[in-house]
Amino acid sequence: RIGDLDFKVADLSLAEFGRKEITLAEHEMPGLMTLRREYSEVQPLKGARIAGSLHMTVQTAVLIETLVALGASVRWVSCNIFSTQDHAAAATVVGPYGTVDEPKGVSVYAWKGETLPEYWWCTDQMLRWPAPAGERQGPNMILDDGGDVTMLIHKGVQYEKAGVVPPTDESDSEEWGVVLDLLRKSLATDPGYYSEIGPKILGVTEETTTGVLRLYQLAAAGELLFPAINVNDSVTKSKFDNKYGCRHSLIDGINRATDVLIGGKVALVAGYGDVGKGCAESLRGQGARVIIAEIDPICALQALMDGYQVATIDQAISSADFIITTTGNKDIITTAHMQAMKHQAVLGNIGHFDNEIDMAGLAKLPGVTKLEIKPQVHLWTFANGKTILVLSEGRLLNLGNATGHPSFVMSASFANQTIAQIELFTKRNEYDLEVYRLPKHLDEKVALIHVLALGGEMTKLTKEQAEYIGVDVEGPYKADHYRY
Ligand code: NAI
Repeated sequence: RIGDLDFKVADLSLAEFGRKEITLAEHEMPGLMTLRREYSEVQPLKGARIAGSLHMTVQTAVLIETLVALGASVRWVSCNIFSTQDHAAAATVVGPYGTVDEPKGVSVYAWKGETLPEYWWCTDQMLRWPAPAGERQGPNMILDDGGDVTMLIHKGVQYEKAGVVPPTDESDSEEWGVVLDLLRKSLATDPGYYSEIGPKILGVTEETTTGVLRLYQLAAAGELLFPAINVNDSVTKSKFDNKYGCRHSLIDGINRATDVLIGGKVALVAGYGDVGKGCAESLRGQGARVIIAEIDPICALQALMDGYQVATIDQAISSADFIITTTGNKDIITTAHMQAMKHQAVLGNIGHFDNEIDMAGLAKLPGVTKLEIKPQVHLWTFANGKTILVLSEGRLLNLGNATGHPSFVMSASFANQTIAQIELFTKRNEYDLEVYRLPKHLDEKVALIHVLALGGEMTKLTKEQAEYIGVDVEGPYKADHYRY
C-alpha cells in the first residue's frame, strides 16, 4: 500500500515502460477511445465499483483506464497465472497522472508467474474495497474472463449459507482444493463476507466462451445471483478476437517459446470453432500441413471445405510436430497421446483452462522428468528417452508465451465490455437473473468504428433498397439468427 492505494504487482518501477506501451496501444484501440470521448462527460459509470478479472495486459490497461474515465472505481486481477504483463500492471497502478512514489491509478493484484494460492488470494483481495473500520465494501459490478470471480462469489455465498465448506476430496483438482482452502479461511476469519457482498452485485459481463458456458449452466439451474451479459457472443467479439486474435497470437506464442520452423511441418489442431479457425489459418499461413480434429460435423465440414484434413487425434497424433488444443473442453490430450507423439513435438493449449491437456497425469508418469528451458517452456522426458516440449504448463500459450492478442482486435472486444458494463449498471432494473447478449445495433456500432479506423468506406443503403430487404437504412442490417 502507498497512501490510500493497496496493490500487489511485481515491480512498480516498470511503470514508465508500461505507460509508453499503453500510449501506443491507445492509438490502436479506436473503439475504447471513441467511448471515452462519447461518455467521459456523462460519467455513466459513476458509482460503479467494478471488480475485473481479465489478463492484466497493456490492452487491458486501456480498458481499465476507459472504465475509470467513465466514472468507475476499479480493482483488478489477471484471470490466468501466466498472462500478466508486469509493466502494464505497474503502469495501471501508477496511473496516467501518478508517479512511482505517489501512485494514483487502480488497485491491481497481478504478476506473471503467480502460484495457484497466490492467484486465488489476489482474486479475494480484489473483491475487498477499502471501507471505514468495521464496515465491508465489495464490488457492485463484475467484469469476468472465464468466470472465476463469478464462481468464487457463488460458491462463497453457497457455503456461507450452509455454514461449512466441504472438505477437499481426493478426486478434486489441485486448483479446486486451493479455492476450497480460501473459502474455508474466509469463513473462519471473516464469516458472512460473501453473502454480504453477493446480493449487492448488479451484474457481470463475461468475456469468453468458457465463462459464458458456466453462466448458462448457472442460469439453467436457477442459481445465478445477478444478471449477466454474454460479451463473447457479440459478433464483434467472438468472430474477431477468438478468430483473428488467435490467428495473430498463436504463432507469436509458438515462435517466442521455441523458434522452431513451422513451415513444412504437420500441425494437429483440436477444435475448429472460432479459436480453432484462427489457429489453423495462422499455422497454414506459415506453411504447416494442418490436420483438424472435431466432434461437430458442421465444424468438421467447414474444415474440409477450407482445405484441411480432418482426422481423429488418435490417428494423427504420431505424425504431428505441433499439437494445439482449442476446444474449451477437457481431457483432449491424454498421457497416452503424449507418449505417442514424435520426439520433441511441441504441445500447447490456447483454450481457456488447463484441463484440455492431462498435465497432472503427465507429472505422474513413472520415470518422467521435467526440464525448464526457460519460463513457460518445459521439456518433458519419458522413461524411454523420448521428449516433448510443453508450453505454458498447458495453460493458454498465447498469453503465457507471448503477449496475447494485439490492441486493435482487443479494442472491439473491450468496446463491447464497456458498453455491456454501462448497460447493466445504468439499466439494472431491466434485467432478470438471466444471460443476455448486447443488441445488434451496438455490435454494428463497434464494427463501424473499426471499419472507419482501417480506412474502409461504407456503402449506404437507399431507402428503396432498405425496404426491399426489410431493414432500416441505419440498421440493424441482419436478423438475430444470421450467422456471419
Ligand atoms: P467454440 O465453441 O467456437 O469452439 C470449440 C470447438 O471445439 C467446437 O467446434 C467444438 O465442437 C470443438 N470440440 C469440443 N470438444 C472437442 C473434442 N473432444 N475434440 C475435438 N473438438 C472438440 O469455442 P471458441 O470460441 O473457439 O473457444 C474455445 C476456447 O478458447 C474456450 O475455452 C475459450 O474460452 C477460449 N478462448 C481463448 C482465447 C485466447 O486468447 N487464448 C480467446 C478466445 C477464446
